[in-house]
Amino acid sequence: MSKLWGGRFTKPTNQLVEEYTSSIGFDQKLALQDIKGSLAHVEMLAHCDIISNEEKNQIIRGLHTIQGKIENDDVEYSVADEDIHMNIEKLLIEEIGPVGGKLHTGRSRNDQVATDMHLYLREKTEAIIELVENVQTALLKQAEGNVETILPGYTHLQRAQPISFAHHVLAYFWMFERDKDRLQDSLKRINWSPLGAAALAGTPYPIDRQMSADLLGFEKVYPNSLDAVSDRDFILEFLSIASIMITHISRLSEELILWSSEEFNFVELDDEFCTGSSIMPQKKNPDVPELLRGKTGRIYGNLMGLLTLLKGLPLAYNKDMQEDKEGMFDTVDTLEGALALLAPMLDSMEVKAGEMKKAVKEDYSNATDIADYLAVKGMPFRQAHEVIGKIVLYAIQEGRYLLDLSLEEYQQFSELFEADIYDKLAPEHVVAARNSEGGTGFEQVHVQIKTAKEHLYE
Ligand code: ARG
Repeated sequence: MSKLWGGRFTKPTNQLVEEYTSSIGFDQKLALQDIKGSLAHVEMLAHCDIISNEEKNQIIRGLHTIQGKIENDDVEYSVADEDIHMNIEKLLIEEIGPVGGKLHTGRSRNDQVATDMHLYLREKTEAIIELVENVQTALLKQAEGNVETILPGYTHLQRAQPISFAHHVLAYFWMFERDKDRLQDSLKRINWSPLGAAALAGTPYPIDRQMSADLLGFEKVYPNSLDAVSDRDFILEFLSIASIMITHISRLSEELILWSSEEFNFVELDDEFCTGSSIMPQKKNPDVPELLRGKTGRIYGNLMGLLTLLKGLPLAYNKDMQEDKEGMFDTVDTLEGALALLAPMLDSMEVKAGEMKKAVKEDYSNATDIADYLAVKGMPFRQAHEVIGKIVLYAIQEGRYLLDLSLEEYQQFSELFEADIYDKLAPEHVVAARNSEGGTGFEQVHVQIKTAKEHLYE
């Protein structure tokens, strides 16, 4: 059979052009969405008396047959038929004869492809939300088991103040919670139906766009046909959210890599999630978090690619827009792969509470608390800061930690020091004391876990 659009042409397409313009190599991922969209369209056409019921039934039967073949991997697509839309239409006409040609009444590939991508991204957004929840569940489990596990908190990668490990992992819980929120919110816009916008201007047929939108579970129809076929900002939005999410994944991965090093030695990733070296027998490499960190580049790249693609395009459809798909597919696959690994890797990770504690004891991260101690006793905080700075310098020069200095030594720096200073300096006390809302104090962390559970399970 010749090209579906062959009527106007006198020469066959140049072979290279055929290959160059074809998208079937990648848009076959939209096959099932394409059929779903066609089923809704054809129902609507019959309902509006644009085709007969008999024709509708034949087309539906044909589409179901093709769907079955696609599901069984039993179709052969052809580059000559350019894309998934024309491939399926061709298969349909082969299956049921010329009546298959009625399917495309009142629609264009332009609203068809947009519809397919809305359907695809809706499914994937919902699936990704679930995967994010699995990661959150793993984070929450680690948090619940480690409220009283204390480690140094850092700023500038310098030890700053001790914190609860639960507090640290919950920080990521909330990042993912916002990512999920963004995904959920984006569904509002993904759920607009472009179907029936036709090529760009609408159609003279008395179609019912609301009906096909309802059949596809969309919440509303695009009010403007030009916008409907030109809009790709629902994909831009997804890529933006994905970029933010992979940033979070990457930061978490970076910490897992650092923590797994001998220098930190705070966690041990399960053997299942690590790989060895072909030359150095002692190595256990955190390849998974490294790759998760590394995947960030391609997702940012996909976002930049689509932004750049769209920025100079006049309305409405331009063939450039066929390039909108691979970055979207790649981002979906990359994100699904990342989240699917992250959850079990976090879940099985061993937290080395003893090593963390050791690190806290061998640092000066309780210095702020001595400053606060003096401030509570009346010394202005700025002056207290100065005094404690001198004490820290003295301790460093002595090669000792703040808990090891005697009361006499403290009193040389200020007469306000009394024996109770030692209780105040113990890491447990330092952490527990930060009981302000959202702080790392144990009580607050318990409150936070409760709130996190409410968000996740209610
Ligand atoms: N394969 C095309 C794409 O993905 C489908 C739309 C084609 N429309 C057109 N007018 N050539 O963009």
